[in-house]
Amino acid sequence: MRQIPGAWHRTAAGAGLVGSDGSIHPTIFAEMSALAARTGAINLGQGFPDEDGPSEVLEAARDAIAQGVNQYPPGRGLPDLLDAVAEHQQRFYGLHLDPSRNALVTAGATEALAAALLGLVDGSDDEVVVFEPYYDSYAAVAALAGARLVPVPLRWPAFQPDLDELRSAVTDRTRIILVNDPHNPTGAVFSAEVRDEIVRLADRHDALIVTDEVYEHLVFDSAHVPLATLPGAWERTLTISSGGKTFSTTGWKIGWVTGPAPLVDAVLAVKQYLTYVNGSAFQPAIAAGLRLPDAFFQGIADALRVRRDLLGAGLRAAGLEVSTPAGTYFTVADAAPLGATDAAAFCRELPERAGVVAIPLTAFASPAGRGQYATLLRFAACKRVEVLEEAASRLAALR
Ligand SMILES: Cc1ncc(COP(=O)(O)O)c(C=O)c1O
Repeated sequence: MRQIPGAWHRTAAGAGLVGSDGSIHPTIFAEMSALAARTGAINLGQGFPDEDGPSEVLEAARDAIAQGVNQYPPGRGLPDLLDAVAEHQQRFYGLHLDPSRNALVTAGATEALAAALLGLVDGSDDEVVVFEPYYDSYAAVAALAGARLVPVPLRWPAFQPDLDELRSAVTDRTRIILVNDPHNPTGAVFSAEVRDEIVRLADRHDALIVTDEVYEHLVFDSAHVPLATLPGAWERTLTISSGGKTFSTTGWKIGWVTGPAPLVDAVLAVKQYLTYVNGSAFQPAIAAGLRLPDAFFQGIADALRVRRDLLGAGLRAAGLEVSTPAGTYFTVADAAPLGATDAAAFCRELPERAGVVAIPLTAFASPAGRGQYATLLRFAACKRVEVLEEAASRLAALR
């Protein structure tokens, strides 16, 4: 009989995603959420909101179901959503798209990322440059695509890449520079200097740029700048986003890819054999969301800024050091002042000590990169104000 773990397991074992025997460990997210459920701790680990999104969006999904939008949508997505994505890119970023050629609907950003890497990586000599710590699916899909992951570290407390390290990571072997901005788990928003350098390096080494912009509307003190808007970037950039974070519908998994037609087609070629299509009734609902007035988008960033500040103040009062995020759901705090030396062990004890759950930043790093995040924890601020207040008062027990 053939060996059960196949080639992917060998690559994934190298990336620390599965055991060397091919065994699958539960992710730290599953472990910490189970711990929260078992102990009654407040779950600031997983990044999902505990409130519903805009009623217009929820209502539009109900209407779509009632009107029978329940069968397979077209492979590229419902034209109404493709139009809404194009209108959104024009309204917020001045990008002009042909919705029938430059846009594609996917099963969340996650499928878009997987299909982009599978569709664009050429062979096992190809490298994918990522910024570490990184969203956990990046290493998994790079391994699936047979590419080598090349991490560029983001360091406490500003989490901006060092430009020299970035320059030495990007070479002629680089097929894709994978950029997540605003950045999970650190909450960093890349500086203009970093953005320019990414585009310059991609051009110099003829690399593609894939951007994950799922937190595009959760930026606190500036306007989000997609890399695709930079001079010379459009032709080599695929931009990925989704409705989950913006409309508090993380379970709907409606995402999209925009970019030049040949790159979008490469994603479609893989995507059509992954899910083919998904979420027909949710697609018009996300289209309605994308067409909400500017005040809605400003409102969600303002509301999250208040929560970020509340969480940050609670963490500081508990004796942790805090890196104030410029965007996203997340805040990173250093537990070293409380004597922590191992973030994962600290997180396992936190429900007992303070009734709160967090995620160790090491969960977002390669085996070689984990050391530099040994005492850092990620907390999610996308919870109701009263939940964050309660978490802050529980955390005070750590003092
Ligand atoms: C950086 C990043 N990319 C992608 C995703 C997943 O997006 P989706 O739910 O649309 O697949 C998340 C969700 O946490 C994320 O944080």
